[in-house]
Amino acid sequence: MKKLYDNVYEFTHPLIQHKITMLRDKNTGTNEFRAIVDELGMLMGYEALSDLELEDIEVETPIEKCKSPVIAGRKLAIVPILRAGLGLVSGILALVPTAKVGHIGLYRDEVTHEPHEYYCKLPSPIEERVILVTDPMIATGGSAIDAINLIKQRGGKKIKMIGIIGAPEGVKRLHEAHPDIEIYVGHMDRGLNENAYICPGLGDAGDRIFGTK
Ligand code: PRP
Ligand code: URA
Repeated sequence: MKKLYDNVYEFTHPLIQHKITMLRDKNTGTNEFRAIVDELGMLMGYEALSDLELEDIEVETPIEKCKSPVIAGRKLAIVPILRAGLGLVSGILALVPTAKVGHIGLYRDEVTHEPHEYYCKLPSPIEERVILVTDPMIATGGSAIDAINLIKQRGGKKIKMIGIIGAPEGVKRLHEAHPDIEIYVGHMDRGLNENAYICPGLGDAGDRIFGTK
């Protein structure tokens, strides 16, 4: 993992880089695309959760009693930004099966590129949980900024955001709006085009995961 600047990280693991290349390929079909996003959820989630706090509990092995660490505190909250963020959830749940899952519904207006909220349901008490927000794409950053505003308005504090691909301008905007959260991207791409799509990117993540369009 490479620190790009304060609280902003880019994953460097070769498996993550390899899988992102498979996603970029326009000939990768829906089945394979969805499976790779799932695998990336697991790999990126594993990396982003490497600083979870531990506490010792007592356990009895077949040999003797000992103190041994478990994840401390409330269960993790995974919060996908609908729709595309859903694709990353099952891979993270494979790592942390006891996690709670919230949902934030946002869609980006095709003309203005501004996000519009249509749903928000979070596990309580949200203020006591580490919250992992997922969305494959951080383009203008508008959707991620609004999603995190919604989480903070409801009391969320310990927030991490993971995206497969980021645009430098959108990630910077997100960091400036929420300097306290950790932002992780699988790859920081060149930038946005006139339609606010990430270049080279992978196209429309939601459409490619769900086979719409
Ligand atoms: C995509 C993507 C992000 C958002 C990124 O979702 O999954 O949520 O755009 O763009 P931004 O950083 O400029 O806000 P979209 O709004 O297309 O909805 P979908 O997931 O339902 O396809
Ligand atoms: N949303 C996507 O799915 N892809 C982009 O490149 C930008 C926004």
